[in-house]
Amino acid sequence: MSPKIIDGKAAAARVLAEVKSQVQAMETEGITPALAVVLVGQDPASQVYVRNKVLRAEECGIRSLEHKLPAETDESALLALIAQLNADRDVHGILVQLPLPGHIDETRVLQAIDPLKDVDGFHAENVGGLSQGRDVLTPCTPAGCLRLLHDTCGDLAGLHAVVIGRSNIVGKPMAALLLKAHCTVTVVHSRSANLKELCRQADIVVAAVGRPRLVDADWLKPGAVVIDVGINRISEGERSRLVGDVDFDSALPTVSAITPVPGGVGPMTIAFLMKNTLTAARLQQPASVTFAEHPEAACPSIS
Ligand code: GUN
Repeated sequence: MSPKIIDGKAAAARVLAEVKSQVQAMETEGITPALAVVLVGQDPASQVYVRNKVLRAEECGIRSLEHKLPAETDESALLALIAQLNADRDVHGILVQLPLPGHIDETRVLQAIDPLKDVDGFHAENVGGLSQGRDVLTPCTPAGCLRLLHDTCGDLAGLHAVVIGRSNIVGKPMAALLLKAHCTVTVVHSRSANLKELCRQADIVVAAVGRPRLVDADWLKPGAVVIDVGINRISEGERSRLVGDVDFDSALPTVSAITPVPGGVGPMTIAFLMKNTLTAARLQQPASVTFAEHPEAACPSIS
């Protein structure tokens, strides 16, 4: 059978359509989900990410509030803004774009966000909840990867997943989500011995290391499903282009399914940010719906 190229744009469009119709349903109750996006400084990549997040929010009917602060903003001013957003009942999600300038303590800032408004899932309460297997606001990129895996493989129970990379944003939450989906999970990283051999045992490979085209056919078991989280800009002569952590052309004949870069995981990250904003808005209503009462709000949905 020829390998499947997993279409992240189409999968993201389905998630966004679900979100849009659920936002419309909330509107009938007089609630408009709102997302505050905070950007400190002028990092060009962060500016592009923030612009895309705001555009997607508008497309789904989610109100977006942009807070652009100068690079020299001090930590206390940023914490004051977060306190104000936490107290604002019309703001349901708060996202502080990372990385922050070096003089600001990232952990202190992320911990200041109300866990119920933490649409990135980076607050220790949500990180802890995820590691306990509870339904909490979950980091968007791994949640998007899990949805792609369910769309591709159905039930993941018993499959061996190798996650390459141990970052707080992708590697660690990805491993927790795969465990929750009953996979056998191995996390490998730059200091692992026998990286390639471990990877070659995997039914599922999630590559999130930020090393252009590190993984080639030699690292993959025939029929493996590969999710490539890497977005690396490489120069080729006068031009530059984006490549993943996986050498797509080399891997394609070996795998049963693989995400391309771009057009694979990237669109899912923003789609799940919108889904998390909707979930956060639900969780903050006075009658406080819970994940148990609203299983479709649980992150990530595997339906
Ligand atoms: N910078 C790169 N990825 C992310 C992300 O998922 N969330 C935030 N807040 N910043 C990022």
